[in-house]
Amino acid sequence: MCGIVGYIGDQQVYPILIKGLKRLEYRGYDSAGIAIFDQEIALHKCKGKVADLEAHAKNGSVSGTIGIGHTRWATHGLPNDVNAHPHFSDSKSIVMIHNGIIENYSALRKMLEKRGYAFRSETDSEVLLNLIEDVQKKEKVELDQAVRIALHEVVGAYAIVLFSKENPDRLIAAKKGSPLVIGVGEGEYFLASDATPIVEYTRNVVYLEDEEIAVIDRAQGLNIINIKNQKITPYLQEVELQLEELEKGGYEHFMLKEIYEQPRSIADSMRGRISVDGTTVALGGIKDYEQKLINARRIIMVACGTSWHAGLVGEYLFEDLARIPVEVEYASEFRYRNPVIYEDDVVIAISQSGETADTLAAIEMAKSKGATIIGICNVVGSSIARATHAGSYTHAGPEIGVASTKAFTAQVTVLTLMALSIGHKKGTLPTQRYQQLIRDLEQIPSKIEKVLKQNDKIKQLSDKFFQATNFLYLGRGYSFPVALEGALKLKEISYIHAEGYPAAEMKHGPIALIDEQMPVVVIAPKASFYEKVVSNIQEIKARKGIVIGVVSEGDKTVSEIADHIIEVPHTDEVLMPLISSVPLQLLSYHIALLRDCNVDQPRNLAKSVTVE
Ligand code: M6R
Repeated sequence: MCGIVGYIGDQQVYPILIKGLKRLEYRGYDSAGIAIFDQEIALHKCKGKVADLEAHAKNGSVSGTIGIGHTRWATHGLPNDVNAHPHFSDSKSIVMIHNGIIENYSALRKMLEKRGYAFRSETDSEVLLNLIEDVQKKEKVELDQAVRIALHEVVGAYAIVLFSKENPDRLIAAKKGSPLVIGVGEGEYFLASDATPIVEYTRNVVYLEDEEIAVIDRAQGLNIINIKNQKITPYLQEVELQLEELEKGGYEHFMLKEIYEQPRSIADSMRGRISVDGTTVALGGIKDYEQKLINARRIIMVACGTSWHAGLVGEYLFEDLARIPVEVEYASEFRYRNPVIYEDDVVIAISQSGETADTLAAIEMAKSKGATIIGICNVVGSSIARATHAGSYTHAGPEIGVASTKAFTAQVTVLTLMALSIGHKKGTLPTQRYQQLIRDLEQIPSKIEKVLKQNDKIKQLSDKFFQATNFLYLGRGYSFPVALEGALKLKEISYIHAEGYPAAEMKHGPIALIDEQMPVVVIAPKASFYEKVVSNIQEIKARKGIVIGVVSEGDKTVSEIADHIIEVPHTDEVLMPLISSVPLQLLSYHIALLRDCNVDQPRNLAKSVTVE
């Protein structure tokens, strides 16, 4: 939530900030703003997107070589010009951007108001800034020390960057719970919520850790202290991200590009993890924890949103192939539920961004109770990747579209590889089936290519349904999580109400919704319970519902009773979610386009949810 950028060096800062904010706009797009120093602090901010900010800033001063920028996903206060960041301190001498939530902001604000501070916005961020200013005045210390002391008073999450007009040659940054990366160039430094705005200038980065404060000075360079005032040696790392991965590459939207990237991203998720002769699976990242998984009393999947749906596929996989009991938990519920956790439980935390606040908190809680934590993350070096004991990256490449597509199939691929490896080592998955599934898995990218060739057909289908007000998605077994994911994709980008349900549960309630207006997407590949799903389709047709069947190539039965079908190449049912989720992504994409929705930046959403 919220993207923040900062720069200090010899280059003009305005284009660096604007470009950086555009890269980070997926994190929030309610408002945008920048503050640049040149003789004095010039502040430009407004409701809307970075493009609106550019128009807004056009007539003011944008010259200077130190500055900060922010793109907001509103938490405290409406998305308007006043609540947009950066914020000035009460005396207007300090300017700051913030990503996160200050939970005790109300008490702090009352205390500061009593001390005479006036507030212009409704944000918790302005409260933190005035607290810093108050500490600096009271303690008569440098700004970095004021930040350090003030942060002791704060409950919540933050990534902040600030500077003062008294010392405009120094940027100060701090973080706890929200990400912050420092790019280290030749005599210049970049700050950002992730590495995407940095890579075109330098590949050398330092990931600031929780409760660390970075002081970046033109003369003295980068120094890091922690909240206890201990000096920290910066750990310089190299980012591998390629610039082209951050561009649309000729596609109209990032979402479409990412849907089309899946044959490659799934292959990348498998790369180096299947032996050259195609007979064994090995995941280097979890090598030392495999025995823990084999002996696990239970696996608990924790995640949110689409990643939670991947976890649900993981439940079917691990129970089926490795005979380990699995629970799939919404991280936001799990973290507060005081769950029973045993030391021989293994928690698998799944997150594309690796920054989701609830997932991170769930990990910390389970860790404190002695569980082993394995991560499945896409973003290398992210907070979740660093908080886990071990893990496997999905290697899907940057996912910029807010609606998750290739990250989902990459997560399912990694879960499949893990379940195959653990099941075989544990002896619950016979060698012959293990090796057949590996061979089938290797075929998935080319099968997805075939699904993508049906784009035009799916587009035509979308034309028939884009005005629907409700949708139902049904599936059984491995297709149930796909139904949930299909419904989520549709509602988040097209704003059509959609529900995913286990097909057989339909008759316990949702069947009441079915009439001749209701499109029902039934994921019905040739798999266990196929006949039962066919019966469910008959039940829908008997109530005049409109059925769109996602079926295996050559299917005759569903084809005869459904109103429309999308055929997908056949594979083992264990692997079917990797294929059957793809036409549903395309369906929601085309429906959203026809409804004139902003596909890559749907309303009210942000790509990584770093607040709870
Ligand atoms: O980065 P994460 O995988 O932890 O994010 C979890 C959810 O916020 C995310 O999957 C969200 O549901 C997507 N918008 C779904 O498309």
